[in-house]
Amino acid sequence: MTDELNEVPRTTPDFTTEAASQLAELFPEVVADGKINLDTLKTILDIDVEEGRERFGLTWPGKREAIRAAQTPTTATLMPDKEESVDWDTTQNVFIEGDNLEVLKILQKHYYGQIKMIYIDPPYNTGNDFVYQDDYADPIGSYLERTGQVDEAGKLSTNSESAGRFHSNWLNMMYPRLKLARNLLTDDGVMFISIDDSEQAQLRRLVDEVFGEANFVSQIVWEKVHTRKNSARQFSVSHDYIICVARRKMRSIGDGGFQRALLPRENSDAYSNPDSDPKGPWKPDPIYANNPYDADYVITKPDGTEITRPAGQYWRYSKKTIDEAIESGALIWGSGASMPMIKRYLSEVQDGLVPVTLFTREFAGDNSQAKSEVKELFDGDPIFSYPKPTRLIQRFIQIAGVGHHEIVLDFFAGSGTTAHAVTALNADDDGARRCISVQLPEPTDPESDAHKLGYETISEITRERIRRAGKKILEEEASKLDGRADSLDVGFRAYKLVDTNFTKWKANSDLSEDELVGLFSDLADSADDHARPEALLTEVLLKLGFSLTEKIETVEVAGLSVFSVADGLVMAYLDEHTQPTLDQLRALVAREPERLVVLEDAFQGNDELKTNLVQECRTRNVDLWTA
Ligand SMILES: C[S@@+](CC[C@H](N)C(=O)[O-])C[C@H]1O[C@@H](n2cnc3c(N)ncnc32)[C@H](O)[C@@H]1O
Repeated sequence: MTDELNEVPRTTPDFTTEAASQLAELFPEVVADGKINLDTLKTILDIDVEEGRERFGLTWPGKREAIRAAQTPTTATLMPDKEESVDWDTTQNVFIEGDNLEVLKILQKHYYGQIKMIYIDPPYNTGNDFVYQDDYADPIGSYLERTGQVDEAGKLSTNSESAGRFHSNWLNMMYPRLKLARNLLTDDGVMFISIDDSEQAQLRRLVDEVFGEANFVSQIVWEKVHTRKNSARQFSVSHDYIICVARRKMRSIGDGGFQRALLPRENSDAYSNPDSDPKGPWKPDPIYANNPYDADYVITKPDGTEITRPAGQYWRYSKKTIDEAIESGALIWGSGASMPMIKRYLSEVQDGLVPVTLFTREFAGDNSQAKSEVKELFDGDPIFSYPKPTRLIQRFIQIAGVGHHEIVLDFFAGSGTTAHAVTALNADDDGARRCISVQLPEPTDPESDAHKLGYETISEITRERIRRAGKKILEEEASKLDGRADSLDVGFRAYKLVDTNFTKWKANSDLSEDELVGLFSDLADSADDHARPEALLTEVLLKLGFSLTEKIETVEVAGLSVFSVADGLVMAYLDEHTQPTLDQLRALVAREPERLVVLEDAFQGNDELKTNLVQECRTRNVDLWTA
């Protein structure tokens, strides 16, 4: 057919070729005949390349494959799950059940450079926790198998120290995920990663490599427990670490990089207004310090007492500032020869606090508060081991400065603390931040309370937590929420990771001859027979680069049931069972969507119909896509 007919891409973007083409765009002379000339690149950059065998850096067995794993495209897609969703039509939040590596790849097309903050709390690799082992050859197939979604149900197992390659397995799991996560951050975006001593050292190096050393922001120490464990063999560990790293840290004001926001000032107790000062609450501040300043003067009190600066100390303010303070009544004289103080007004101090690297439990909550939060939602049942407190994540959101409609992502969602924290903070400060959570359907331990209560996978717990938290916030904050301009979004669109709905997209180079023959006989059909039109639509939209929260309506056009996306920007006809007539297609084109998507199967082999549609679209300037 002609170049007026586009085909929806079958996979997520191929990052290898994308990286090469970005390089070629920057330095065309480096790429010749499809190959990169490293010597030319070295010359252009005028860099000292470390020669020889000894290099500084983190290496481990499997690193090459891990790098490739981040770059390999996937045919996997997401299936909408309306039954598990809350407020499907209106919500801007998303919950995705699936392995996060595949999901991160799927998110690349629309969410590239769109996420303001990512928080993750990955398995710490303690030897007892489960670390997902990727199968690079068939990631989606093995995911479905291992999570029991296809016949030969496999098993998810722990990464035990005795099994060898202990750190390597963990690094292989983390590397591609961090790499893809970084792509999703906005230019001024930031990522927080929880970790403990098991992998802190490795993670720090890994983060340096993936984000660049210059983008390291801070390593926070969080007091997770207060009690001392006297049974501890060495130290009783009372903290975790959180590594904070920016996509691009701000170097100079206004360069668009990440700059931490200030924390809201909560404790204004030190400020009061005993003299009903019209400028509001103030606190007394000394007027001298031990930093040497040039100013030297004498202050004369109203009763004539002359005050000089104390020996070894210096005035903190110029004579002019002190005279102005006297004039405006901001100098507190004190009796006799006592040193005057200056009023520091709450309204004039910086509008927030610089965060410190030590997060106390008072500041950020602790493990026991986190447990109570979850128990409270689940009628007292300890449904999830080791959740994080919502307050901790709210601190990250504040420091990241996540604004209205900006997105927070957590792709190791666990019990759904991040989604809960975002909604609670939105309720508190009139915010409208959005949250995307990703969680593997990891089976719950058959002996656990969760399992006994009927939760077979952790992802079921996550969804239920988000539902219950939303309901509780709506109930408890009802009076406060009444005053909001927009209603608080406590919903989420639920999706599940699945293999492509298009049979023709499943071909891969590993297929045997027999499998290929079978596949070609299926190729007459583009879509799986049982694929629902909604599922096809989600897949097409994702591969065309639309978000997971687009407004989707079903509309009737000349008797055809079609999807209208983003108020008619895209129209899609995805019913393979009913061949549309040319008149019906004409009516569809007459709506002049920017893009029209038609399922290949819907033509039912009628090439003339297709050619006529191409012409129709050309006349009306409509971009035509088949899938
Ligand atoms: C330490 S927990 C996170 C706890 C969470 N911060 C909370 O407050 O509840 C890590 C979670 O990541 C999930 N997980 C592990 N590997 C994953 C993968 N490949 N994709 C998605 N989730 C995964 C585990 O099932 C587990 O629930």
